[in-house]
Amino acid sequence: MEKKTVVTICLGSSCFSRKNRDVVSALQEYVRINSLDEKVHLQGGHCMGKCSKGPVIMVDEQIFTEITPAKAIAIIETFLLNRD
Ligand code: FES
Repeated sequence: MEKKTVVTICLGSSCFSRKNRDVVSALQEYVRINSLDEKVHLQGGHCMGKCSKGPVIMVDEQIFTEITPAKAIAIIETFLLNRD
């Protein structure tokens, strides 16, 4: 089976106060609309130590800071393009 791109969204309190919830909703919607369940695995994670630069996500072990919903989607699209 094809390996999924793993997207971990920091659910720590600092990222929460910086609206990580909007990023979670946008990514869930993106995966649903594009039927990417087989390619992308979304999960929550603990603080990644970059609280002042939240919201933070990690995609296949690579950390990205100051994430907005649009940025998160652009990052995932790049990862998906580069693996196909
Ligand atoms: S709370 Fe998200 S990096 Fe610390």
